[in-house]
Amino acid sequence: MQKEFDILVFGATGFTGRLVARHLKKRYAEGNTSNTTWAVAGRSLDKLQQLVKTEQLPPSISLQVADSNLPETLAEAISKARVVLTTVGPYARYGSDVVRLCAELGVHYCDLTGEVHWMRRMIDQHQHTAERSGARIVHTCGFDSIPSDLGVLFMQKLMQERHGIAACHVKYRGSDFKGGFSGGTLDSMWSMAELAERDPALWKLIADPYALDPEGGHRGQDGPDHTTPEFDPDFNAWVAPFVMAGINTRVVRRSNALMGYPWGRNFRYDEATLMPSGPFGFVGAAAMAVGFGTMNAMTRVPPLRELLQRVMPKPGEGPSESQIENGFFKIELLAKHPTDAAKHLRGRITGDKDPGYGSTSKMLAECAVALARDESPVGGGFWTPASALGESLLERLPANAGVRFEVVS
Ligand SMILES: NC(=O)c1ccc[n+]([C@@H]2O[C@H](COP(=O)([O-])OP(=O)(O)OC[C@H]3O[C@@H](n4cnc5c(N)ncnc54)[C@H](OP(=O)(O)O)[C@@H]3O)[C@@H](O)[C@H]2O)c1
Repeated sequence: MQKEFDILVFGATGFTGRLVARHLKKRYAEGNTSNTTWAVAGRSLDKLQQLVKTEQLPPSISLQVADSNLPETLAEAISKARVVLTTVGPYARYGSDVVRLCAELGVHYCDLTGEVHWMRRMIDQHQHTAERSGARIVHTCGFDSIPSDLGVLFMQKLMQERHGIAACHVKYRGSDFKGGFSGGTLDSMWSMAELAERDPALWKLIADPYALDPEGGHRGQDGPDHTTPEFDPDFNAWVAPFVMAGINTRVVRRSNALMGYPWGRNFRYDEATLMPSGPFGFVGAAAMAVGFGTMNAMTRVPPLRELLQRVMPKPGEGPSESQIENGFFKIELLAKHPTDAAKHLRGRITGDKDPGYGSTSKMLAECAVALARDESPVGGGFWTPASALGESLLERLPANAGVRFEVVS
C-alpha cells in the first residue's frame, strides 16, 4: 500500500522525541540521498507547531495529532506510515494500542521501552498477528539495549572470523559514563513499581534471566544479575551492579534464542560496572551496590517512592543541552573462547553523547531508518535489535550515530 511517509515519530514533543526529530532533520533532511521521509506526531497540535518552530523543522513536515487514549486517532496516523518510532512512555501505560495497531496494520515499529513485563505481554498477545501482517516489532532501541545486543553480535562475529567458533561467554563492563536522567525514564520506573504492587508476580517475571525468551526456549546457565561487589579476575578489577542489566541481559539472551542459538544453548552473558582494582575499587563497588539496592527498595515502598517522585525530574524534564552534548559512554567487552584462554577477545563500545538521551535518540532514529530502508533477514514478528537489524546497525551506528564498536588488542 502507498504510504504518506516512511517514519512517524510519535512523542516528538517529549524530551527524547524532540532529540529524535533533531537527528532526523540533521541526517535526513528533505531530498536526502536515501529519500527517507518522516512526520511528527503528538497529542497536541499546538505543541507540534511549537516544535516545528523551535527545532526549525521543514515547514512542509506533516503533523499528525494522535492520542494514546483515543485508538481511532492512533490508527489513522499509524496507517499512513511504514514505520512507527515511539517515545510515548511509560509504555505499559500508553503503548499497548500502538503495538497492537502496528501488528494488525503491518506497520514496522521501534521504541525505547525497558519494561520487561510489558514486552513479555506484547509478545504473547501479538506475535501471531505480527507474523501474519509482516510488521517487524523491535523494542529496546536505545541505550537499553543497543550497545549490549549489538556489542555481543560484534564480538561473536569477530570470534567466528578469527577462530571459527562462537564465544561461550561475553562480559559487558560499563567503564565510563557521563549523562543524566529524564523525568520520562523515572516515570517508567515508578509505573513499573505501581503495577507490581497490584500484581506481585511481576517481580518474579522481571527477575527471571530468561524472561523474554520465546515460549519453549532453552534455559541456559545464566543466573541472577550482579547485586554485590565482586572481584573480576578477567578485568583484574572490582565490579558493581549495572543499573540496566535487568533489561539488557534478557534482550541479548532473546537474540540468541531468536536466531536459533548461533552462540550455543549454554551461551552466558552478564553485565556489571567496572571499578578500580585495589581497596578503593572495593569501596566504590560496595557503595554503588548499596546505592542501587537502596534505590530499588525505595521504589517498592509507596511513601518512599512518592518522596523520590517529589525531588526527581518530572516527565518532560531531563539533562541540559550541555550535559547531553558533553556526555559520553565507554563499555569494555570480553568474549571468551570456549577452550583456549589465549584466544579470548576484547572489545570496546563508545558513544559521543550522553547515553540516555543524546545517544539514545540517534540509535532509535537509525533503527527506524533501518526498518524503513534496509533489507532484513526476518519477516513479521517481535524481534530484538540484533536479530532484526544487526548487520544494518553495525554499519549505521558508527556512520550516523557516533557509536563505535572496536577490537582492543
Ligand atoms: N531505553 C532507553 O535507553 C531510554 C532512554 C530515554 C528514555 N526512555 C524511555 O522513553 C520514554 C520517553 O521518555 P522521555 O524522557 O522522552 O519522556 P517525556 O519527556 O515525558 O515524553 C513523553 C511523551 O509522551 C507523550 N504522551 C504522554 N501521554 C500521551 C498520550 N496520551 N497520547 C500521546 N502522547 C502522549 C508526551 O506528550 P506531551 O508532549 O503532549 O506531554 C511526550 O511527548 C520513557 O518511557 C522512558 O523510560 C528510554
